[in-house]
Amino acid sequence: MVARAWHPGSWRGLPIRQVPEYPDAAKLAEVEARLAKWPPLVFAGEARRLQAALARAGAGQGFVLQGGDCAESFSEFTANVIRDTFRVLLQMAVVLTYGGGIPVVKLGRMAGQFAKPRSSETETKDGVTLPSYRGDIINGPEFTPEARIPDPARMEFAYMQSAGTLNLLRAFATGGYADLHQVHRWNLGFVERSPLGDRYQDLAHRIDETLTFMQACGMSDLPQVQETEFYTSHESLLLPYEQALTRVDSTTGDHYACSSHFLWIGDRTRQPDGAHVEFLRGVKNPIGMKVGPSMDPEELVRLTEILNPANTMGRLTLITRMGADKLEAKLPPLLRAVQRAGRNVVWISDPMHGNTTTVGSYKTRPFDAVLTEVRRFFDCHAAEGTWPGGVHVEMTGQEVTECLGGAHRLTEADLSLRYQTFCDPRLNAEQSLELAFLIAAELKARRSPLQPAQAAQ
Ligand code: PEP
Ligand code: CO
Repeated sequence: MVARAWHPGSWRGLPIRQVPEYPDAAKLAEVEARLAKWPPLVFAGEARRLQAALARAGAGQGFVLQGGDCAESFSEFTANVIRDTFRVLLQMAVVLTYGGGIPVVKLGRMAGQFAKPRSSETETKDGVTLPSYRGDIINGPEFTPEARIPDPARMEFAYMQSAGTLNLLRAFATGGYADLHQVHRWNLGFVERSPLGDRYQDLAHRIDETLTFMQACGMSDLPQVQETEFYTSHESLLLPYEQALTRVDSTTGDHYACSSHFLWIGDRTRQPDGAHVEFLRGVKNPIGMKVGPSMDPEELVRLTEILNPANTMGRLTLITRMGADKLEAKLPPLLRAVQRAGRNVVWISDPMHGNTTTVGSYKTRPFDAVLTEVRRFFDCHAAEGTWPGGVHVEMTGQEVTECLGGAHRLTEADLSLRYQTFCDPRLNAEQSLELAFLIAAELKARRSPLQPAQAAQ
């Protein structure tokens, strides 16, 4: 096959799924032209730094923590929502770093996670059928015909919200909030009063002691203690928006998607000859791809060749989302095929999307199934000699009741209490911490074979 020449618009004209038809083509073109002139949201150098960190995780010397909302929303755009999600991610990262003894790559599903693929084109309520809600960057969640019309102007608001979110995240990451001396203060709110809060507080005390010891040894004021590196990511679904924010990096001449540090292809849009694969193959950012139970091993190898022809470690992260009951049958053949073909990838587990069930009118996920998928992910990698490089979760810092179980044993009757998601059910802060403790234990039990060498340096 002769490789097609890539340019930021070369996806146009290829088979495309999940991208809406905008009724007003002229308005769409105007918005795209304006976005193309606006400043990039991230810099190429940051994306390269992230890729280097991902490469270390792929080689067994790190662990990726990717998390945030299923769908960010225009109406929930507040400092508190951003801060609370960031704070829980920091708590999880500290549990993994200290408890699991491994560097953690922090990657928010934030500052751009707006567009949603949908299983059905339409939604029916009380006998009325309307087009599905596709995320705030495309149409509105209200169940009215007007709200469901795709409106290009929403892309501009999404850009502004992403810029505002990113600005606050950068301030938190480097302005003192993420200083490890603050480790106790991250544990505020409803988690503080829970069993997980106590467990976290114990760990925070041990970190405090370590910091005091470091200070006594003259190792104070280290940037690694005072600041953190935090990156952003979202699904690369709405290609007109992604193309408009693609820029040429002046130092290398390469194209970077500048809407986010890391972009991934969803499980519904990963066709090797489709538009989404075409767009992402040409940008130089580190990228991801969801891998669900219908993935064929040969096709997966082919996709790794298309998306990462130079076979660079850190460029491609495969995010497996099998479902706890299917993982043991589906994952090992994929691990073997990729290993046999010598393809360098980072394997991470999304234990959310394969474990969705419906209770009454609520989409939910049993927390036990989430934990089981993660455990089986670790087991399969141990059996194949590959490295379980990270986890990808839908979570929030809010006290929601969207997933069943966890330390508070949320039941089906509890779902209606605080069911606030705009799309899929998320782990609340307490469930997120519980998951982090489980992963830390798994990591401690199976340190990478590369770790002793690293520690000896
Ligand atoms: C998602 O991550 O929100 C999503 C839609 O996932 P997937 O493509 O794996 O179904
Ligand atoms: Co989702």
